[in-house]
Amino acid sequence: MERLCITGGRPLSGTIAASGSKNAALPIMAASILAQQPVRIDGVPQLRDVCTLADILRSLGIRVSRLEDGGLELATVDSVSLDSVPIDSLPVRADYELVSRMRAGFCVLGPLLARRGRAVVSLPGGCAIGDRPVDLHLAALTALGAELKVEHGYVVGRAKRLVGAEVQLSGPRGPTVTGTANVLCAAVTARGQSVLRGAAIEPEVVDLGRFLNAMGARIEGLGTSMIAVEGVDQLGGARYKIIPDRIEAATLLLAVAITGGRATVDGLVPQHIDAVLAALERSGCRIDTTAHSVCVAGPQRPRAQDICARPYPGIPTDIQAQWMAFLSLAQGRSTIRDEVFPGRFMHVAELKRLSARIETPDTGRGDGCVVVEGVERLTGATVTATDLRASAALVLAGLAAEGETVVRDVYHLDRGYEGLDVKLSELGAEIFRRR
Ligand code: EPZ
Repeated sequence: MERLCITGGRPLSGTIAASGSKNAALPIMAASILAQQPVRIDGVPQLRDVCTLADILRSLGIRVSRLEDGGLELATVDSVSLDSVPIDSLPVRADYELVSRMRAGFCVLGPLLARRGRAVVSLPGGCAIGDRPVDLHLAALTALGAELKVEHGYVVGRAKRLVGAEVQLSGPRGPTVTGTANVLCAAVTARGQSVLRGAAIEPEVVDLGRFLNAMGARIEGLGTSMIAVEGVDQLGGARYKIIPDRIEAATLLLAVAITGGRATVDGLVPQHIDAVLAALERSGCRIDTTAHSVCVAGPQRPRAQDICARPYPGIPTDIQAQWMAFLSLAQGRSTIRDEVFPGRFMHVAELKRLSARIETPDTGRGDGCVVVEGVERLTGATVTATDLRASAALVLAGLAAEGETVVRDVYHLDRGYEGLDVKLSELGAEIFRRR
């Protein structure tokens, strides 16, 4: 098992580029099942999750190749062999072994039902960040005319041609992101019009919609909570460049800020992280933005503040753990809530091992408001990563802590960050990978 060894206390400086967005790339790759011509996606990051989804797509009979220039080419059977394998003979089973490794594998359900009329997709199962149901996906796909049942841990679905309908994609904690992706992919070739209410407005969902439009779909209202889709008979191929990763960019900015350094993250869309930039300014950071870059200068110690993770355009839940690491060094008391995943606080216990003072006073179950009493210094220790963003938080804390921090189980980090350790080291961090 690989680990990261970090010697804290080096202020970061320089310029680093953001990678392509993981959470845009995954549903876009899954949507290539719909394409009847080859698809080429640029900017897909080299990540474990991308490899896992590529394996799922290969198991569904899709050719996935990394091109020399880094682009990803996906070719459906329709585009490869025009003399045609009957669509009924194509595999439609996404196995538990792969989908349980990465929930985004569930994003093949909508495209399979729409294109192949059948799907057997494993329910994703448990997850370290809390309860992650898929009821909204299933209800909306059923409304579009799919016959779905859950058997032996799999969603087994059939659909002749899906039929446009009005569906609801918001649940008690707001809109579902991958649910919107699944349903959008199902609706684009349904007969007639669909209206997706309570749809997610995250930039990654907008990116998927633009990709589908590039293949010939007719989608309007992207970036609003009501998306209208006029079904088309079929989709062609497309060449598409995905958006930069706003979560990676925000993580890098917080890494610079926590070390009191000054550095620029380049190649991002600053508006995608407006809420994060505003919160960084409130904490005493200096922020300078251009159209494609953000320069941050960290304060000596951040000012405490209350952070609440919310759906877009709020502070993303995927950056909540990294904020906690930053605010653990603040002057004063901060509170942190997560409205999207209220129990996503697995990192608390590990941050405490680095001398952070954090409490979950209301229930003790970690499903409420976490109180962070800022300390003057963190001290290095060996910690264990529990999930992707928790690992990033531990790395950030390690960059600021006195002495050596060892972050174990780095594979979590590699699922969703493209060479984070390499990027941090280019900014001057002392960070090494060891077995
Ligand atoms: C996506 O997960 C992201 N994953 C997550 O990123 C991210 O944390 C999350 O959206 C929220 O922004 C990808 O894009 C691949 P949801 P998703 O369905 O779509 C409830 C990361 O670290 N809900 O939007 O699975 C649910 O319980 C990952 O990169 C229902 O009630 O999340 C939650 O409270 C982790 N019923 C809320 O909605 C449903 O059917 C939002 O979940 C679906 C969801």
